[in-house]
Amino acid sequence: MNIVLCGFMGSGKTTVGRALSAQTGLPFYDTDSCVEEKYGKTVREIFDTKGEDFFRDAEHDVCCELANGNGAVIAAGGGTLTYARNCKAFENKARIVFLDASFDVICRRIPDAASRPLFKNRQNAKALYDSRRSLYEKASSLTVDADQSAEEVAEEICKKLGLSAK
Ligand code: S3P
Repeated sequence: MNIVLCGFMGSGKTTVGRALSAQTGLPFYDTDSCVEEKYGKTVREIFDTKGEDFFRDAEHDVCCELANGNGAVIAAGGGTLTYARNCKAFENKARIVFLDASFDVICRRIPDAASRPLFKNRQNAKALYDSRRSLYEKASSLTVDADQSAEEVAEEICKKLGLSAK
């Protein structure tokens, strides 16, 4: 079984994923980094030159590839689990955990949004945050308070999923 971390930009998916990987010894993947490696471009460059639809298809391919593997910690992108096809790809292949951070904490964690094409404007980002919360809840079977430190969040996930420490 894989562990997939979902939640809004700045909820700490990558940092928590690395901490969880260090605590359990499970390998770590990040869907954004997998897309970037595959195309040799940053997420921002892909959005700018090829558009969001192209990025979403690439992201879906990466989800299918990762879902074929087993026993990994996977940090999803902020939009990944808001698409039914990606939820389906991970069905019976992963426990999905929602990192639920408040919008204020997220804004503190993302002072410079240059690398995040969908966080250019705080007002639009808040509307996106509000519209996505119920989708993250629906996609996941465990919700963790992600205003805590990454180490605390990782420990809570370990405990609640019954993962053994390395
Ligand atoms: C996105 C979040 C980003 C990245 C892309 C789109 C989104 O990932 O996948 O910019 O739709 O929320 P992070 O959540 O890791 O920033």
